[in-house]
Amino acid sequence: MSYLETTAQFYSEVAQTPEVGLCCVQSSSMQLPELKIPTQMQEMNYGCGTTVHPAELINQPTVLYVGVGGGLEALQFAYFSRNSGGVIAVDPVSEMRKAATRNLEIAAEENLWFDRSFVDIRDGDAFNLPVPDSSVDVVAQNCLFNIFEPEDLTKALKEAYRVLKVGGRLIMSDPIATRPIPLHLQQDERLRAMCLSGALTYEEYTQHLVNVGFGQIEIRARRPYRLLDCQTYGLEEALLLESLDSVSFKVPIPNDGVCIFTGKTAIYMGKEGIFDDGAGHVLQRGVPAAVCDKTAVNLALSKPEDILITDSTWHYTGGGCC
Ligand SMILES: C[S@@+](CC[C@H](N)C(=O)[O-])C[C@H]1O[C@@H](n2cnc3c(N)ncnc32)[C@H](O)[C@@H]1O
Repeated sequence: MSYLETTAQFYSEVAQTPEVGLCCVQSSSMQLPELKIPTQMQEMNYGCGTTVHPAELINQPTVLYVGVGGGLEALQFAYFSRNSGGVIAVDPVSEMRKAATRNLEIAAEENLWFDRSFVDIRDGDAFNLPVPDSSVDVVAQNCLFNIFEPEDLTKALKEAYRVLKVGGRLIMSDPIATRPIPLHLQQDERLRAMCLSGALTYEEYTQHLVNVGFGQIEIRARRPYRLLDCQTYGLEEALLLESLDSVSFKVPIPNDGVCIFTGKTAIYMGKEGIFDDGAGHVLQRGVPAAVCDKTAVNLALSKPEDILITDSTWHYTGGGCC
């Protein structure tokens, strides 16, 4: 069996016998006014952060959700889209599609605003999305792409890029590793399926996004996810996994390189009232301005005495320099 078949078999099992806390950070699901999440759906929360960022979901976007799981985030997206077929959710595992269908039917009974037609569940996989080129506003996946080996990850990212409209967003939540995961764990297909051993480092993960052409990447959250201990995982030193929530925009990569926002700011502390770098960045003395990591480096190099760059907060929600 290939690791993708092992993965499908694993999710077929957990669709039939849900395992609470199988995968995900220990946080409760996002609550929204008049949204009631059925208990069965909560028990099948197999994500590791969130991909539902309300600010990205104005004007009833069309959302393609990859790897439906128990349907929790599909329901949350439908809360914003609120139209028939506004959320298309794909999954290659028939038992998972069945579970999501059942959970969404319960959700329709428990939520007056929700109609079952809002989520269209389709058989499909991340490598062959069943929608035309440039047809959706948002592609989202939670805790799936980390399972893919690097070449397959590239295929899945290219496929997401293909179906997004220009300006559209790829919203992801995945585990990342604080150092490369040793080969013996990477090759353990079950651990990989459980989102415990396929994770890339932050640098590798973001480089994959840049390689397929996303011109702007915003980090929405980065926090501890799991610790792989020495005894259980045959390691000399424990290995911390983090979860990374990100939004990547299908916009051209600027000539001087991609803009990655990690929550840094630049603060001018020179003698003038303002500082203008002549490249579109105007800083008011003493006032932090959100900047991407590339601009942070350029500003720090150009005025090391006069510009302070603050650390990444790993939480950025827009309004920055580019
Ligand atoms: C870790 S679960 C995450 C489920 C859901 N996103 C959540 O947050 O609860 C991974 C999901 O991806 C599905 N899946 C597995 N292989 C896939 C593939 N090649 N393409 C799309 N989905 C896949 C699984 O059946 C499962 O529903």
